[in-house]
Amino acid sequence: MNAPDFEIPFYLPVGKECELFEHAHKNKLPLMLKGPTGCGKTRFVAHMAARLGLNLQTVSCHDDLTAADLTGRYLLKGGETQWMDGPLTHAVRMGGVCYLDEVVEARKDVSVVLHPLSDDRRILPLERTGETLEAADSFMLVVSYNPGYQNILKSLKPSTRQRFVGLSFDYPAPDTEIRIVAEESGLDMQSCVPLVNLATRIRAMKDQDLEEGASTRLLVYCATLIHSGMGALEASRAALIEPLSDDDDVKSGLEEVVRATFG
Ligand SMILES: Nc1ncnc2c1ncn2[C@@H]1O[C@H](COP(=O)(O)OP(=O)(O)OP(=O)(O)O)[C@@H](O)[C@H]1O
Ligand SMILES: [Mg+2]
Repeated sequence: MNAPDFEIPFYLPVGKECELFEHAHKNKLPLMLKGPTGCGKTRFVAHMAARLGLNLQTVSCHDDLTAADLTGRYLLKGGETQWMDGPLTHAVRMGGVCYLDEVVEARKDVSVVLHPLSDDRRILPLERTGETLEAADSFMLVVSYNPGYQNILKSLKPSTRQRFVGLSFDYPAPDTEIRIVAEESGLDMQSCVPLVNLATRIRAMKDQDLEEGASTRLLVYCATLIHSGMGALEASRAALIEPLSDDDDVKSGLEEVVRATFG
């Protein structure tokens, strides 16, 4: 029951991550993805869900997100209260992938809901309705977060982490990233080579000056601007310097690196 090819979002594997996803799904294991911003986590999940013909529910977690936002709530409808499944409950009932992006941001009560669902019980107790749902066979829980942004208050507890199999993402190797940037932006591969080299140099500045290196997403933006007719210098300023820093010294450091590449 696989979805037809044209509906599958483009994703170029960087390792054996597609195999791991398939094995995890087949064996009903939840999956935890970690990695810096813009390195392909969300795209990977979208690709795999489509490839396996699975419905995908994505929830971007934030510090106000409560368990009820995931499980559901009673809503007033025409004078009556009616239970409305949240995205997690929907996926548990109907099957498919429920993807919780930036899961470390969610409130503490969310982990209470995730625990019985992410171990071998695969159940979702709904306190408000009194139901206990058993997850459909094709249900899979996927969570992701960026370990770089975590503080001690917001890291996942061992009892939560150890309910998942995990996969670390990083920026793709240069050859792979060139192909990704070309495919996503429409810019020819040859012109993507200096961009990826530039990113490598900017990424080396991480820790000294930058909180995060230039993401694959920003490289795609930059290549898109160039493909649309902007000069490489201007495109790099807009897509690779401004989004990375507000600090004048850091920005002039980046400007130097950009000029050394395109100047
Ligand atoms: N392996 C890949 N194959 C295809 N496209 C990719 C790949 N890696 C990154 N991209 C490109 O990079 C962009 C950003 O990726 P994505 O949105 O998946 O990042 P993310 O890891 O989810 O970031 P965040 O943590 O900020 O949500 C995608 O829109 C896509 O254009
Ligand atoms: Mg994402």
